[in-house]
Formats: sequence, C-alpha cells, structure tokens
Amino acid sequence: MMGMGLILLIWVSTTMCLINVSLEFDPVDNYLIDCGSHTKTPVGDRVFVADGLNSDVLSTPQNTFVNTKSKPISSTIDLALYQTARILYGTSHYTFAIKKHGRHWIRLYFFPFVDGNYNLSTAKFSVLAQDFTLLRDFQPQNGSVVKEYSLNITSDNLVLTFTPFANSFAFLNALEILSLPDELIPDGAKTIGPLVKNQSVLTRALETVARVNMGNQTVSPQNDTLWRFWVSDETYLNHVNFVNFVSKIGAVNYSMKWPTRNVAPSFVYGTATTLNSQLDPSTLVNVTWFFPVDPGFDYLVRFHFCDIVSKTPGQLFFNVYINSWLVAMNLDLSILTSNILGTPYVLDVVTSSSYSVFLNVSISPSNVGNTYPNIILNGLEIMKLSDSRGSLAVRDSKGNSKKKIWVILSIAIGVLFIAMFSALVLFVVCRRRRRSSPVDHSTEDHFAINGGGISEPMENKYASGTAIISSSKIGYRFPFVAIQEATNNFSESLVIGVGGFGKVYKGVLRDETVVAVKRGISQSQQGLAEFRTEIEMLSQFRHRHLVSLIGFCHERNELIIIYEYMENGTLKDHLYGLDVPCLSWRQRLEICIGSARGLHYLHTGSTNAVIHRDVKSANILLDENLMAKVADFGISKAGPEIDETHVSTAVRGSFGYLDPEYLTRQQLTEKSDIYSFGVVMLEVLSGRPVIDPSLSREMVNLVEWAMEWEKKGELEKITDPRLMGKINPDSLCKFGETAVKCLAERGIDRPTMGDVLWNLECALKLQGNDEKRPDLNGDLALETGVSTTQFNVGSVSNLEGVSMSRVFSQMVKAENRWTETG
Ligand SMILES: *[C@@H]1O[C@H](CO)[C@@H](O)[C@H](O)[C@H]1NC(C)=O
Ligand SMILES: *[C@@H]1O[C@H](CO)[C@@H](O)[C@H](O)[C@H]1NC(C)=O
Ligand SMILES: *[C@@H]1O[C@H](CO)[C@@H](O)[C@H](O)[C@H]1NC(C)=O
Ligand SMILES: *[C@@H]1O[C@H](CO)[C@@H](O)[C@H](O)[C@H]1NC(C)=O
Ligand SMILES: *[C@@H]1O[C@H](CO)[C@@H](O)[C@H](O)[C@H]1NC(C)=O
Ligand SMILES: *[C@@H]1O[C@H](CO)[C@@H](O)[C@H](O)[C@H]1NC(C)=O
Ligand SMILES: *[C@@H]1O[C@H](CO)[C@@H](O)[C@H](O)[C@H]1NC(C)=O
Ligand SMILES: *[C@@H]1O[C@H](CO)[C@@H](O)[C@H](O)[C@H]1NC(C)=O
Ligand SMILES: *[C@@H]1O[C@H](CO)[C@@H](O)[C@H](O)[C@H]1NC(C)=O
Ligand SMILES: *[C@@H]1O[C@H](CO)[C@@H](O)[C@H](O)[C@H]1NC(C)=O
Repeated sequence: MMGMGLILLIWVSTTMCLINVSLEFDPVDNYLIDCGSHTKTPVGDRVFVADGLNSDVLSTPQNTFVNTKSKPISSTIDLALYQTARILYGTSHYTFAIKKHGRHWIRLYFFPFVDGNYNLSTAKFSVLAQDFTLLRDFQPQNGSVVKEYSLNITSDNLVLTFTPFANSFAFLNALEILSLPDELIPDGAKTIGPLVKNQSVLTRALETVARVNMGNQTVSPQNDTLWRFWVSDETYLNHVNFVNFVSKIGAVNYSMKWPTRNVAPSFVYGTATTLNSQLDPSTLVNVTWFFPVDPGFDYLVRFHFCDIVSKTPGQLFFNVYINSWLVAMNLDLSILTSNILGTPYVLDVVTSSSYSVFLNVSISPSNVGNTYPNIILNGLEIMKLSDSRGSLAVRDSKGNSKKKIWVILSIAIGVLFIAMFSALVLFVVCRRRRRSSPVDHSTEDHFAINGGGISEPMENKYASGTAIISSSKIGYRFPFVAIQEATNNFSESLVIGVGGFGKVYKGVLRDETVVAVKRGISQSQQGLAEFRTEIEMLSQFRHRHLVSLIGFCHERNELIIIYEYMENGTLKDHLYGLDVPCLSWRQRLEICIGSARGLHYLHTGSTNAVIHRDVKSANILLDENLMAKVADFGISKAGPEIDETHVSTAVRGSFGYLDPEYLTRQQLTEKSDIYSFGVVMLEVLSGRPVIDPSLSREMVNLVEWAMEWEKKGELEKITDPRLMGKINPDSLCKFGETAVKCLAERGIDRPTMGDVLWNLECALKLQGNDEKRPDLNGDLALETGVSTTQFNVGSVSNLEGVSMSRVFSQMVKAENRWTETG
C-alpha cells in the first residue's frame, strides 16, 4: 500500500513538474537568498539559498543574524522567508554577476520583527542599486513588505548598497534578483496628461506600486510564470455595487505574439471586473479604482484587457480614463485582437501623478452601437519611474524646504495681488454705486423685494422663448446684468465652489444681500432638467433647514441660481479636509438634527414625499451660526404620482452614499435618503471621508468598517480621535444605534426621518447632561420641531399662482400633521 502510494505520488509530481516546466520562464540570472538563514528554504517550486554562514556575494563590516518565532499577520509570501534576517551595520554591498544584460527584478523582503536585543522597527536605511536610489531613509514599520524594482542592467555586475542612517542599522529578510524576458517592458508607451517629464522607460528604474488582478481574485506567485503576486481589486474600487466579478480562466487564448503568458498569466486574464448587469442600462457610471501614489513622479500604467464575457466580437465598447484624462475612447478589443475572443491585450500608458496622492483609473461604458453597456478590466499594474536624478524615493526634506519657500513666496505674491485687485474693484464699485444710487433708488428697493419686477423688460429682451420653468409666475427672475454686477462679472476671485453643475460664486446684490450664485456650464438636457428641478423644489419648499432660493436667471444660454449665502461652507469641510476648528459633539449633533429636520420636511411636507437623492456631507451647508441647511436639489424627485414626468430612471447619487437596495432594484423611496443620512452620521462620528483609499483595506469603506465595530459594540474605535473622551457613552450609543438602523440592508427596516430626528434629539439630550447648556425643558418632546419649522412669510407672498397656493396649503397641513404625531 505504502509503496503504491509513493509511486503514485512520484508519478503525480513528475507530471505536474512536466506541465509546469513547459509554462515557466527560466531566468538566466536567478539569485534567491534567504538572508540570515542557515538552511535552504523552499518556497513553492523555488529554493532560496541560505546566506547564514558566509556569503560570497555580500561585503559588510559586521555579520549579525537574527531570527524570530513571530509571524507576519497577513503575509502573501511564504512565511519561512520572514523568520530570519541579516542585520547590516555600516555601508554594505551585495554584488551579483550578471550574465544577461537587460531588465532584472530586484525584490527585497522586509519584516520588522522583534528578537531579544533587536527591534527591527528601529532600523532606518537607504538602498542603492547601480546609480538608482531605491529607498531613502526607509523605516519598515507596518508588517511584512516586499519591494519590487525592475532595472535595465547593462554592466556585468549588479551592486546593491545598503547604507544605515546615522546610528541605526539596515536589515533584510530575503532577496531575489531575476532576469526578465526582454519583451516584458517595451518602450513606446502612450503619454497621457500634461506633466509627464520623460516618456522613455528603456533605461529608467521602475518600482511596482500596484499589481492588481480584477475580478476580486488574488493570484499567488506559484500561479505566475514570473512569481509575481497579484492582489484583488475589491479594496481599490469606488463602489462594489457597480460591478460584477467574472471568472473564466479557460476562455483565455494567447493567440497573439504579444502579450505572452509572461506578461500576465491566464489567472489574470481569465478573471475580470465588469459592469453590474443589474444596473439600469441608461445609467452612466464610471467604475473607478483609486491607487495611492507618491506625487511628482511619472508612472507607467499597464492595463490588461481580455474579453472573456462577449458571445460574439464587437459587442463591447468602453472609455478609459486616468485621473480625468481620456486614455482611450470607444475602445473595441475585438479590432485589436483580430476578432478572437479571449485574446489578451495590453495598453501601456506613461502618466504623471502631478501633485495628487491618488492615481484614479476609470472605465465607463461608451454609447456607440446599440449594445448593452458594459466595461471590462482584467488586470492593472502601476510602476513608478525613476526621476531625472535616478531616484525612486520621495525628495528629501532639503529639496522640500526649498520648494516650500517658493510656494510661500508665490502665495504671498498672489495674496498681495488679490488684495490690490479687490481694493481696485471696491473703489470702482463704490464710485459706481454713489453715482447711480440717487437715480436708481426706487428700482433698487423694488429689486430687493421682488426680483421679478425689474426683470420683466429684460426677460422680453433676452428670454429664449422656451419657458423651462413650468410656473412662470414664481417670480425671482433676475436679469443677467444684475448677476454680472453682483459677482463682478463672475470674477475668479469670488469662486467659492466648483461642482458638476459649474462654479459657485459669492456675490453681493444691490441691496447688500450676500448671495451664492451657481452658474451652470452646460445647456445639456440633463443640466436643464436639474436646473429646473432645483428651482421648482426650492420655490415650493421653504424651510429653516433647507437652503433658500433667492432667484434665478435663464437668458443668453445662462442657467443661474441664486441662493442665500452660507458663511461656513459645507459640513464635509468641517469634518475633514479643511483646516478649521474641530466641531464639538454637541455641535455635530445639532447639525445632524438640523439636516434631519430639513429632510423630514421634504419627506412629509407635501402629499407626495420628495426624495432628495443626493444626501451627503458636501450637500449640508452651515450658516454663520453653524446651523445646518440641506442643499442641492438638482436630482431630487417627487413621489411616484408625479414620476411619469421624469423619463430617466438612471441611478443617480454619490459614490459611497448610495442605498444598496435602490442600486439593485431601482426602487426609489425616501428610505434611500435615510440610508445616505446614515452614512453622513457615520462621517460626523468618525470625521473621515466615506471612501478613503489611503487607509488600510478594512478601513477604506467607512460603512463596512463602522458596521464591523458596531457589531462588536466598540463604536469608540471609529470615533473621531479629536472627540475622544468628550462624548457621553449613552449619547454615543444612541447615535450609533440610530446610524446603524438607517443603514439597514432593506428599506423597510430603516426608520423614518421622524424617528431619526427623535433619536438624535435624544442623543443630544443625553449629551446635554454632560456639557454646558442644559435644556430648559425637562422632557424629550419634539416641540422644537414645530417652533423651528417656520415659513418665510415674505416669500410666500411671492408664491403666486394656483399650484403654489395648493402647495402652500399642503405644507401647512403637513406641519399640523407633524405637530400631532410629534
Ligand atoms: C504547476 O502549476 C499549477 C498551476 O499552473 C499549480 O497548481 C501546481 O502547484 C504547479 N505544480 C508544481 C509541482 O509546482
Ligand atoms: C520597536 O520599535 C518601534 C519603533 O520605534 C516601537 O514602536 C515598538 O514599541 C518597539 N517594540 C518593542 C517590543 O520594543
Ligand atoms: C504605517 O501605518 C501608519 C498608521 O497606519 C501610517 O501612518 C504610516 O504611514 C505607515 N507607514 C508606512 C511606512 O507605511
Ligand atoms: C529621458 O530619459 C532617458 C534615460 O533616463 C534619457 O536618456 C533621455 O535623454 C531623457 N529624455 C528627455 C527628453 O529628458
Ligand atoms: C536597456 O537599455 C539599453 C540602452 O542602454 C537598450 O538598448 C535596451 O533595449 C534596454 N533593454 C530593455 C529590456 O529595456
Ligand atoms: C471578494 O473576495 C473576498 C475574499 O475572497 C470576499 O470576502 C468578498 O466578499 C468578495 N467580494 C465580493 C463583492 O464578492
Ligand atoms: C493556482 O490557481 C488555482 C486555480 O485558481 C488555485 O486552485 C490554486 O490554489 C492556485 N495555486 C496557488 C499556489 O495559489
Ligand atoms: C485560439 O484561437 C485560435 C485562432 O482563432 C484558434 O485556432 C485556437 O483553436 C484557439 N485556441 C483555443 C484553446 O481556443
Ligand atoms: C482621485 O480620487 C480621489 C478620491 O476621490 C480624489 O481626492 C482625487 O482628487 C482624485 N485625483 C485626481 C488626480 O483626480
Ligand atoms: C468618467 O470620468 C471621466 C474622467 O473623470 C469623465 O470625464 C467622464 O465624464 C465620466 N463619465 C461618467 C459617465 O461619469
């Protein structure tokens, strides 16, 4: 029996070996070293040699070995390599004879363990290879890491130099030097974006920054002919709900000369991320992957495509972007692969990260042909290119401080310039005002009270004839010239925001009202529809916690909306990003309560609930007293009764805030707003963005991360560190509980905005006992809800017309209803 088993085992392993030999690349130069080890270490089908005794490739002033029993937490490589390390004091050199000139991989393995006298986390060192700086003042700190570089070596030796920092030391757990197939990295990549310094890659050093297999599957080194590790793409994705993961390894057919198996294995080409087929076909989405990068470097971005999803060629067209730059429009793989489905195709692009710490890769379906919209991406590699000084390391502080001085200088000059310019403008405006005021006085008053009055003649003169506002009696129509005057002819210095719709300017009307002016850039059907929705919604729904409409302008192809000015900008800017004082817990609760009131009013204020559809921290504005108001009604929708008028059923909203149920079933209810509001509550609690790809995998998506900790009952873990110890535990508990209920998978399990409001008031109450300002009123009644929900009576007089008065009476009724239930 034993004998049989052994023979079978030998037979199986020989056949397996035979199969693999035919697939595998055999590198001419092949140095595999397990540093600090006294024995050989097999890893998959390769053997790393020991360098523990005397190493003929290393020259170092002092030999020190360490080993550990501890293991890296999430290692992708065989653990054995990490159990030993060589410590290098003083400058040390590894020298390798190179038999074949050309590209080589240098892989350096680091795992900073602690062993008796040595704490490898305290190491700090630089690594040079030939004339390239691979690492400068490197401190391996966060678990195990493999650094991979590729260098075109044109001499007979490769020298790696380790230089410890001041009194520190260097260390290394393992090392690989391998020749690469010549065809792997050809020159002649397409250049994208304005800031690429040098598009040639032939002689530059490359560092692998990301190597990702799409389709939510990792590929281990054993399954790659060049022993590469491919991580899964899920954590880099903007929204998992936008995509489908597919796997069809057998469909891959390397029918072209290039790319070969060595460029990427079939495990990479045979899995892909595609568009979620349950999305509405008219939906325009970008599937985006975010990659953290070092600013200021050029990058080689390699896209791996392989159509494993189409039944027949010519069915798949999509657009490819890096950051906002178009890389390929209406890309049709079938043409590029001679109509053989399953044939891999590689697109190389050299781009610059410029000043961004992210490199964003987006793919969107293109609307050519009448095929079902879809996209595909099978793999992606991002490689940093060495700069003009032959370095892959971020510039040292010396260079930085020089640069900083320049930045400060240019800012100072800019500020001076703006100040002078503003003074000039002020002077001119004052003069004009003084001249015009005696003449214009009556008009000015009229203007202030009712923009419609002055606009009548202008309207006749300029209006394009297409009445886009159904009820033209709404009033508030401003002449374009008045807006030009208010914004100093749309001066760039008055821009306070830029959005999808266009720019937002700060302006001052003649009656000295400070306003925010949103100027649309597109006359597209969609832009027009959003403009119209926004004005209709804002003129119908007036509430203390909804941003108020002051007027609009639609003439000379201009789409302009004028709002009250909100001194303190967006909630988002106050939570993170901008350098503003930290909001206290009480302030945060009050902001949540304010916005919840605004939304509750939208949901219940008329017979048909109005769904905002884009609730997010960037759409909650704060006035000078930090009172919250909900803004941006461009895509909001009235309930089902009026729904026929809206043709588009496309999924709209913002990444990270979208209700998963709405995304899959396209059933729009006010519960989608509740979900988004739940996300905002988590943002308020944690003071971080909803999606932050710079964080570790489990933290990237705020909702997933928060749910994890809420399940364990340890919400403090996600609390904004600046609030540590300042939140009453009961208040935190109530708040967390409410947020989680809002995020329930199914809409029917989520609370109403009224319930949310009640719970938030409760959380505030619980906090109130701790902090100053105890509530005068003892009970938790919702009486505040009534008193703060007031109408701007002056504006109601402007709401002429039958439909307006109907809306008004409904609103009054709704108010009563609320009072009763409250
Ligand atoms: C051969 O390659 C296959 C995958 O291609 C892998 O599963 C298997 O472990 C390899 N066999 C050996 C002996 O390395
Ligand atoms: C090792 O050094 C790191 C960095 O200096 C430090 O944070 C850590 O606590 C040290 N670990 C031990 C066990 O001394
Ligand atoms: C290690 O992790 C900390 C916190 O997560 C982060 O601030 C730091 O930049 C990381 N260091 C490296 C070298 O990645
Ligand atoms: C680009 O880099 C290569 C090698 O680093 C160099 O030979 C070439 O002159 C550079 N080209 C430009 C335009 O700087
Ligand atoms: C390496 O650089 C030389 C020029 O120094 C160039 O001719 C050769 O094609 C390069 N090899 C590769 C594999 O890029
Ligand atoms: C992606 O893969 C991971 C690990 O296998 C799994 O936990 C996760 O649920 C997958 N994600 C999706 C959306 O399928
Ligand atoms: C190689 O891929 C196959 C198929 O995906 C998988 O079953 C196997 O576990 C992989 N091998 C390794 C060593 O990951
Ligand atoms: C790959 O494509 C070629 C050309 O169409 C075809 O002859 C061959 O049979 C295909 N191979 C596989 C495994 O499908
Ligand atoms: C990439 O995406 C991140 C996160 O949304 C964003 O902050 C950044 O500005 C984007 N970068 C570029 C260059 O567009
Ligand atoms: C996708 O992103 C690109 C680049 O940011 C942008 O130009 C394009 O309009 C976006 N497409 C859709 C459908 O959102």
